[in-house]
Amino acid sequence: MACGTGHHLAMLPPSIARAGVDRSPAMLRIARGRLERSASLFRGDMRTIRLHRAFDAVFCLFSAIGYLLTPRDREAAFANFFRHLVPGGVAVVEGWIVPPEFRPNTVHLLTYNGDDAKIARVTTSSRVGTTSVMRMYYLAAEPGRPVRSFEEEHRMALVEPTDILRSLERVGFHARARKSPSYPARRIFVAVRPGV
Ligand SMILES: C[S@@+](CC[C@H](N)C(=O)[O-])C[C@H]1O[C@@H](n2cnc3c(N)ncnc32)[C@H](O)[C@@H]1O
Repeated sequence: MACGTGHHLAMLPPSIARAGVDRSPAMLRIARGRLERSASLFRGDMRTIRLHRAFDAVFCLFSAIGYLLTPRDREAAFANFFRHLVPGGVAVVEGWIVPPEFRPNTVHLLTYNGDDAKIARVTTSSRVGTTSVMRMYYLAAEPGRPVRSFEEEHRMALVEPTDILRSLERVGFHARARKSPSYPARRIFVAVRPGV
């Protein structure tokens, strides 16, 4: 769910039935290029899409759940993950930064320095109530093309892990939180649909 460019989906073995959902056609285009026909990809919202199939596992990774800003939206997504699992199936949800560890009024720089392109992304982070706001400014240069610049704003919810666990339990999961091994300021929620 919210598979983006399909990078994580591609890590699952192609011998199992894989499906990805994202609301962004641009992200899905890249995912299609990466996965070709070895996975089914669907454009849709993780809160509402119905694939009419149940899976052994649902993954929602790299903090995509943070884009849902209210408990109601998060619970709609969790209920949908539940709906798409077989009994005994597991949902793995990687949360966004935990509230005490989010550092507002900071700036960040990320660069890509390939032969095909040079890209710089400068990000400013701020906090409005329980929402983190990241403004991203890009400068992208590719050989033989005019240099482009563009901006994005990302708003992501700052939610206590206990509140996420409560929402998961409310829709029927048995859930636990663990520190993300890759990003210590984030939690990984492992939620089992009971029934085996
Ligand atoms: C940070 S990316 C994560 C991509 C992917 N999960 C990964 O681990 O590489 C966030 C993705 O969530 C998608 N997204 C955000 N809200 C969504 C929603 N309500 N339903 C489906 N996709 C959503 C965005 O389009 C974007 O591709």
